[in-house]
Amino acid sequence: MKRVVVVNGPNLNLLGTREPHIYGTRSLKDLEETVRSKAKSLDLEVIFYQSNHEGEIIDFLQKHAPGSAGIVINPAALTHYSVALYDCLQALALPVVEVHISNIHAREEYRSKSVTARAARGVITGLGFAGYEMALDFLSKQE
Ligand code: DQA
Repeated sequence: MKRVVVVNGPNLNLLGTREPHIYGTRSLKDLEETVRSKAKSLDLEVIFYQSNHEGEIIDFLQKHAPGSAGIVINPAALTHYSVALYDCLQALALPVVEVHISNIHAREEYRSKSVTARAARGVITGLGFAGYEMALDFLSKQE
């Protein structure tokens, strides 16, 4: 069975209560359920992970992503400045889909810039939890 890793960055543990007008009222647990149920329908095994710490995310990816069919990542604020995370994604050389719940291009200007997106096959931004499902769809079709 193909395995994918789904990673969420800083503050996404607060989904549901954090700026609900931007990120919605559903929690990280709800997101995990959405992801697991979509993965099941696609016959994918999923490792779901969230951390508020850049280095922990990098350690996690280095340990669990090799051998997987790809990575779905919402790097959250790390998107906008983490060269270390970008380097990690590049080094892993796997299909990466970057996902954002909100539309990063419709918000503050500094959010429009993603340093991690260069390491991704594509970016889905602004479609809420559905973006994660679409990313899984895409990865399930990769060789
Ligand atoms: C986010 C957008 C980022 O700008 C922000 O720092 C986040 C969440 C999103 O999912 O819309 O924490 O990645």
